[in-house]
Amino acid sequence: MADDLERPAEPAHEESEQHLPAPSILPFAFAGGVALILIGLIINWWLAVAGGVLALLFGFAWIRAVTRDVRAAPEPEPAPEPEPVSELAVEEEGPEEPERYPRSVFLELSTLGVGAAIGALVTVPALGFMIAPAFVGQGDEDVDLGPLENFPEEQYVIAQFNSKKGEPLNVGRRAAFIRNNGQLNGVPSFTVISNRCAHVGCPVQPGGPVFDKQEKTVRTANGDVLITPVLPAAGFICPCHGGSYDQEGNRIAGPPVRGLDRYEFDIVNGRLILGDLYSVVKVEGSGKTAKIEKVELHGPGQHADGPESWLYPLQPPH
Ligand code: FES
Repeated sequence: MADDLERPAEPAHEESEQHLPAPSILPFAFAGGVALILIGLIINWWLAVAGGVLALLFGFAWIRAVTRDVRAAPEPEPAPEPEPVSELAVEEEGPEEPERYPRSVFLELSTLGVGAAIGALVTVPALGFMIAPAFVGQGDEDVDLGPLENFPEEQYVIAQFNSKKGEPLNVGRRAAFIRNNGQLNGVPSFTVISNRCAHVGCPVQPGGPVFDKQEKTVRTANGDVLITPVLPAAGFICPCHGGSYDQEGNRIAGPPVRGLDRYEFDIVNGRLILGDLYSVVKVEGSGKTAKIEKVELHGPGQHADGPESWLYPLQPPH
């Protein structure tokens, strides 16, 4: 009788371990999705998005599988009726042991939780970078460069202007090479090329004389604009690493990976207004009849076409 009282009850977790969840590829698929997110953050943000979607799908399927296995685990065999125990024996054994939580389920769920937390840490900032620009004004302000008379036909000028209203010229200063191409179908045509090198962003210089003595200052809503005639007979040259561009901004030589960016423009009440920057794959022809293959603005060093454009690191919003 005493031996029966001292025999321990069969541990609950042994039965649970007999009903472990069936082996599944879902954890590996989930890990693959997380890995794709990490690779995508380095290579291309579309891959990161695809990884996020896969991680969510497989993570969800994994949770369902785990919880279904736990729910489907058969009820343990009813334990035989215990022999009546004397009060003295209960006092010796102490209070009844609480039901234990199966260790395997705890490990499954905690692994899943840690994986989900890591996935969220990786995907939430990436999604923020993608979505936030749609809600936060990221584009440049339009810039008033003054009346069209300041831009003689078929001649390049350097226009130096404030990128934001109210900033001193030497703080928010930008520059563009602007050529008035004359009329096209009754509408003024301009070539407006950014001076930011497509390699690592140094300011490019005109490959020809700059007529400093003819510089003039134009008062505009954006502050003072300095306009200086130039003759870029040899196109544009970058002093930093020798990048070279033709008169339309196409890359000719050196380390830049594409041509110079351009500005959108508009004519409002006889004044030239600059809009957003965009990047250019190639310009065929010149002047007002040029065919411009334009793409969204890319960062310095970022390819705008070809396979390299898929293998370049993610760019922050411009
Ligand atoms: S920054 Fe222009 S060539 Fe390097």
